[in-house]
Amino acid sequence: MTKKIWFGADYNAEQWPEDVWAEDVRLMTHAGVNLATVGVFSWARLEPAEGEFDFVQMDRVIETLHAHGIGLDLATATASPPAWLSRQYPETLPVTDQGTRLWPGSRQSYCPSSPIYRDRAIRLVEKLAERYGEHPALEMWHINNEYACHVAECYCDVSAEAFRGWLRERYVNVDAVNAAWGTDFWSQRYGSFDEILPPRVTPTFRNPAQMLDYRRFSSDELLACYQAEARLLRSVTPSIPLTTNFIGLWKGVDYWRWSKEIDIISNDAYPDPADPESWVTSAMGSDLMRSLARGKRWLLMEQAPSAVQWRRHNAAKRAGQMRATSYQTLARGADGIMYFQWRQSVRGAERFHSGLVPHSGTDTRVWREVVALGGELAMLSAEHIEGIVGHQPESQVALVFSWDSWWAIEQDANPTEIRYLDAMKAWHSELTRRGVVVDFVEPGGDLSGYRVVIAPHLFVASDADLLNLNGVVERGDVLAVTYLSAINDEQLCVRSGGYLGSLSTTLGVWIEEFTPPAAADPQYTNTVQPPLVPIEGEALGGPGVATTWAEHVRVIDAEVRAVFAQGDGSWPAVTRKKHSAGSAWYVATQPTGSALETLVTTILTDAGLNSAPTGSAGPDVEMVARGDVTVVINHGTGPYVVDLDGLDLLSGQAARQTRLEQYGVAVVHRFPRDMAHALTSSDDH
Ligand code: GLA
Repeated sequence: MTKKIWFGADYNAEQWPEDVWAEDVRLMTHAGVNLATVGVFSWARLEPAEGEFDFVQMDRVIETLHAHGIGLDLATATASPPAWLSRQYPETLPVTDQGTRLWPGSRQSYCPSSPIYRDRAIRLVEKLAERYGEHPALEMWHINNEYACHVAECYCDVSAEAFRGWLRERYVNVDAVNAAWGTDFWSQRYGSFDEILPPRVTPTFRNPAQMLDYRRFSSDELLACYQAEARLLRSVTPSIPLTTNFIGLWKGVDYWRWSKEIDIISNDAYPDPADPESWVTSAMGSDLMRSLARGKRWLLMEQAPSAVQWRRHNAAKRAGQMRATSYQTLARGADGIMYFQWRQSVRGAERFHSGLVPHSGTDTRVWREVVALGGELAMLSAEHIEGIVGHQPESQVALVFSWDSWWAIEQDANPTEIRYLDAMKAWHSELTRRGVVVDFVEPGGDLSGYRVVIAPHLFVASDADLLNLNGVVERGDVLAVTYLSAINDEQLCVRSGGYLGSLSTTLGVWIEEFTPPAAADPQYTNTVQPPLVPIEGEALGGPGVATTWAEHVRVIDAEVRAVFAQGDGSWPAVTRKKHSAGSAWYVATQPTGSALETLVTTILTDAGLNSAPTGSAGPDVEMVARGDVTVVINHGTGPYVVDLDGLDLLSGQAARQTRLEQYGVAVVHRFPRDMAHALTSSDDH
């Protein structure tokens, strides 16, 4: 596969008469489209009745694209089974935890554990692989679509049986399940595997460990669907890479487990254009994808050219906004910028979702922006590919991200209501806004090479995970752990004796009691008090309100860097334990505002990292270096003058500074030394 920046869209050609296709490929060529995702929702066309296949339309679509040099991201079409499947086999339809069977008529209406669904899906994939596996246009297989987007868990009897099988494999005997789930609580003991059910709706709280295992099982069941397709495709077309589109920070399935099985990680990103913070949110999605890709290629598979149709209020992207986030994604490591979808539908539930070719045609802002971006990416592909593709931005700061913790911390019957992503976003945003590129790492993942590792709410952690975190400090780096971390082991058994397990020694603290503030109780409106002990001239200051959490932290051998100023006493809010080389911070709340700012500055300084915003032009200016280029984007409203020190590949201008209007982008090729010198000299004249 030649190196290029992929540019294209989902092409749902079956929604259009054939004479539209000719116009489509003409426009695609004009816009620089080089990859089309084809057939995502075409199962009903490809197999109109069970076992009867019809590839005539697909052949023509593929030939039409190929004749215009457009590559294929060919979907396996298994995301939306046709009506005949559920008519003949109603048991393939998914069931909610309330026992409601979901009807067909939208999409993703299949039970992931259904052997019938899996069998029919594989038969279709086999046909597709045999028919198109050798096609010269085929660049990658697109397996299914957005696994777990609508149905992350099915609670039907077939799933129940599969769950029992999963448990047998994991625990071998039922007493091990009893021990892991703590079934002596509320008389939940099981005498045999056959008594075990999915955690369907019960009179009151369900067993937390059973629920967590059901999440893991459900993620594995969907993964098994993916794996079955992947195995088949790898056997027929071993040289064609496999992808399936992720959904950013998605709770449904554990992407750490999935990503190891995927050749090209791809992401669907739909930040709300009306949210001024949306560029930070989309940066987070891209950082996760880069981290999941672990050095392999990854791409943006879907973004909206403008509005979506699935929010309550669907803001259109402002002029330049789509281009700005596209360059952000490229800067953060993506090798492709793709969209959903090519031509805006006129029928169906997505007809008010924007398309590259809008309802109003090509004399439109959206279309002009698409063509302009396509042209720029084609130029970068042709002239600068070696300096971009094959490189990823480098990061010295990692956030520990755990699906187990996400699943468990958002259950009922916890110490307080927590949204896992809130803290993750707060830390990520604070780092991103100062130009620090953040990687995500799984709890047991490789943390060497990071100067700073932050673990927000690592609610579920194995002993091995904790040793992995301790290793950060042992290597001389800086670890920061936030509240509600290491509370449970991987079976949701509480670590008694002050929580934290082996982290307690590393952090130099233990926790006596949780004292989360009640929103309505003014006594519990906590603030984080400004510094007790400054570090290297930095003050840990605020005040920042810490409304989400407080607790009684007992210090063993750590410095107290901030206390809760109100509430029932001056309990430590932030501590630091200095080790021979590294240090370990414990953050007993979620600081906000200037307290978070100062804390991040202090932690970065502790690690010897430059904590000043690298862009420094303004709070909404993003600057990320990838390979030979630095991408600078102004997501703010005002114009900013930005230091460039190089050649802007987009404008062709060499300068040390440029002015970026709102959504302005520069892709700066840094000056070689002699050129920088020449520019300085000529400026001097
Ligand atoms: C998802 C799906 C697409 C489409 C878009 C709409 O990303 O993969 O098929 O439904 O959402 O935003």
